[in-house]
Amino acid sequence: MDCKQDVHDLALLGGRAAFDNELYVGRPNLPGRAAFLKRAGDILDRAWLTNNGTYVQQLEKMLAERTRVKHCIPMANGTIALEVAIRALKLSGEVIVPSFTFIATAHALQWLNITPVFCDVGPRTHNLDPARVEELITPRTTGIIGVHLWGRCCDVEGLTAVARKHGLHLLFDAAHALGCSYQGRPVGGLGEAEVFSFHATKFVNTFEGGALATNNDTLAGVVRLMKNFGFSGYDEVRSVGTNGKMNEFSAAMGVTGLEHFEELIAHNRRNYDAYRRELIDVPGLSLLTYDEDEGGNFQYIVLEVASEAPLSRDDLMRILHGERVIARRYFYPGCHQMEPYRTLYPEAGERLPSTRRLAASVLVLPTGTQIGEEDIERICAVIRFAMTRGVEVSARLRAMERVP
Ligand SMILES: Cc1ncc(COP(=O)(O)O)c(C=O)c1O
Repeated sequence: MDCKQDVHDLALLGGRAAFDNELYVGRPNLPGRAAFLKRAGDILDRAWLTNNGTYVQQLEKMLAERTRVKHCIPMANGTIALEVAIRALKLSGEVIVPSFTFIATAHALQWLNITPVFCDVGPRTHNLDPARVEELITPRTTGIIGVHLWGRCCDVEGLTAVARKHGLHLLFDAAHALGCSYQGRPVGGLGEAEVFSFHATKFVNTFEGGALATNNDTLAGVVRLMKNFGFSGYDEVRSVGTNGKMNEFSAAMGVTGLEHFEELIAHNRRNYDAYRRELIDVPGLSLLTYDEDEGGNFQYIVLEVASEAPLSRDDLMRILHGERVIARRYFYPGCHQMEPYRTLYPEAGERLPSTRRLAASVLVLPTGTQIGEEDIERICAVIRFAMTRGVEVSARLRAMERVP
């Protein structure tokens, strides 16, 4: 598809879809199938399915080595790891978080009857802005949860300074950031604790899963108890707890994924470079960049569609869906616009101009091992075609909407 073609060539407007099968954001990477199946067999042979089995221990060791933290405790998912971290650190009252994040960051607080106070992010960093954070501190504030969005680290130095000055806890939602670094320090050891997600959509997955990383032995001890109902031995319960344990099959999947860690990142990197090359001169679009001096996992391909572009973000998404490229709006419309927060804090959006702008402009494109450079060239040909003919494409879409 090139710009000489007619807009009719777009699948949504009567043409043939560019792809026979759907490509979608977050399709799982499944490296090392034979090794995983062998491990699954081992688990069944040993009949040890959960409760700190061999693979959970191996996964913890591999994660701790990779992130250079003392403890990287595998858990059932990232959300429960956040909840346990929040409870173990005894957060209460109000905690400052971004609204431009996955809803789990806010829910983990609300679930524990703590008020998530939504703070704006930097327009370019997409991460918490320490100056805005400081403005939101009240006598009820007990902590800050920064999110290393897209695997790009927060201003850890700035947030640490604010936290120290006001005696607040600082914790990071590092769900996107395994393998990333801040000033050369691997994510995992920043703040008092960091939480990873290994959900199926993450570049290393354990089906469902997460981990809590910390260098604090006392905190790690509390977390180990809490994620196992508070059990410290067969018949002894020392604290209130929950079931946050990871099972052996998930851990075996994680071990297998980590064996392919470098290769997965290299694949993501090649995909990212291909998108960059193809989209560099497309009007109205900018592709999120990653700091070349830091470790990155390149698992998100994040486009921003300018508000003045001839084709809107949502129309571009419709066109891509028609071509069977399932691009996604992230983190639309922002946590503050979702329940219960929209009802509880109807005014929150007023102090979140960058969040509102990003929620209206970001479009995430497929990557991972499901696609390679040739697919990306075809996806980008559709994007270039649609954007350069934006006025015409948009008019056709509006006309289609009017047809009953
Ligand atoms: C930023 C962020 N925080 C938290 C989570 C929750 O992780 P999980 O799905 O493993 O519970 C996710 C992801 O899925 C996420 O993207």
